[in-house]
Amino acid sequence: MKKIFIQQLIAEAKIDSNVIVRGWVRTKRSSKNVTFINLNDGTTIHNIQCVVEGGQIDETILAKINTGACLEIQGKLIASQGAQSVEVAVQSVNILGEADPEKYPIQPKKHSFEFLREKAHLRPRTNTFGAILRIRHALAFAIHKYFNDNGFYYLHTPIITGSDAEGAGEMFRVTTLDAQNPPKTEEGKVDYAQDFFGKETNLTVSGQLEGELGALALSKIYTFGPTFRAENSNTSRHLAEFWMIEPEVAFNDLQDNMDLAEDFLKYLIRYALENCKDDLEFLDKRFAEEEKQKPTQERSEFGLLDKLRFCIENNFQRMTYTDAIEVLKNAKKKFQFPVDWGTDLQSEHERYLVEKHFKKPVILTDYPEHIKAFYMKLSEDGKTVRAMDVLFPGIGEIIGGSQREENYDKLKKRAHQFGIEEESIWWYLETRQFGTCPHAGFGLGFERLVLFVTGMTNIRDVIPFPRYPKSAEF
Ligand code: 4AD
Ligand code: MG
Repeated sequence: MKKIFIQQLIAEAKIDSNVIVRGWVRTKRSSKNVTFINLNDGTTIHNIQCVVEGGQIDETILAKINTGACLEIQGKLIASQGAQSVEVAVQSVNILGEADPEKYPIQPKKHSFEFLREKAHLRPRTNTFGAILRIRHALAFAIHKYFNDNGFYYLHTPIITGSDAEGAGEMFRVTTLDAQNPPKTEEGKVDYAQDFFGKETNLTVSGQLEGELGALALSKIYTFGPTFRAENSNTSRHLAEFWMIEPEVAFNDLQDNMDLAEDFLKYLIRYALENCKDDLEFLDKRFAEEEKQKPTQERSEFGLLDKLRFCIENNFQRMTYTDAIEVLKNAKKKFQFPVDWGTDLQSEHERYLVEKHFKKPVILTDYPEHIKAFYMKLSEDGKTVRAMDVLFPGIGEIIGGSQREENYDKLKKRAHQFGIEEESIWWYLETRQFGTCPHAGFGLGFERLVLFVTGMTNIRDVIPFPRYPKSAEF
């Protein structure tokens, strides 16, 4: 008897071998003389069909085999007459865990994603979430592989920091002070000198600043870690806790940075296409069904797999912010937010450029200096910074990055303009005094990548346990 996971069983087990499979019941179907149990253990999208001939299993046991129950089945692997290639002729069943059909919430029918979000502890047992989690894993692995194969070092940057890397003030405070009765200074302010770290600290919004320290020593580094933003955006593209990948490369300029971003994204999409075939085919069908429900004019022209292939086969459109503003001003479409040079682009503008105008991924560069972060390199014109955003269909911004300001005086001045206290980033500024050099990097939002690759529409559905305003269950 060989204990075997279902992925391995389907891939390599020999007909007529005796096997033990374990898993959760997806469906049970009984007719007069035979019962079919579809078992899934999450190692693959595919179920293994287990066939119980009449009388083989005690009726009281059979009655306890319901959707959601966990079973250990012994049987013989046989060729199947049905759609699947193999099935198990059941010899015995051991019920490891029952699931009361009156109470188990995940029944074999279509549940809404809103409902499943409330059942995030059980939703990985559905086809869709199983597929998403496996693809998420594959992409995380591919990210490390890409960088390792290309000579980057993985740098672990801190989760708790005393600085605001983006200068946007969207931070979660980290403190051990008594919220009811915090110690006060003579001026009556909370006295953070008495806090755990002896100063104000928060959860990081980005590993970039520390990432730059690494790049200015090891040349090519990347970070891959959780980041936290207390922005109150209840959108389908924002999370309060998300994972970010941030490569940073010494001696790179904006052009190199764009080339890296494009090559990296294409590699990841290709990796998923090559290594997640079954899950992507499943999601492709799901995607097509969802599209059919939409009004014709809102339907995507592409299927999910077409969309992914299209992305790797075409060059991304590169253009400056200034030129993009012209395109948007000349657009026939009426935007909710008006556009003019100097305004930040809204998701509707980004999506117009990608989905309607260019119909492919777009890299926008050289944004007005006042709408981008303090660390971006100021251009000769004094009005723009060497920033880049990569915009993707259905997503909008998937990557944000820039060449960094390597000049000490200019950087200090910009930090001051943005109201960033020098004491909080003195170490960052010092790298511009000692052996500074041109360098560039970017941040890829991991969940936005997973959103794109899986064809899902809400970012809360591509992370196992989402964090967003008013929600930190599980
Ligand atoms: O554009 P952002 O804010 O850039 C940075 O944090 C830089 N420090 C990156 C760098 O240059 N090293 O964020 C980078 C990416 C965005 O393009 C987006 O994909 C994702 O992170 N992102 C979010 N994803 C989910 N939820 C949120 N609230 C996000 N905010 C940003
Ligand atoms: Mg950004």
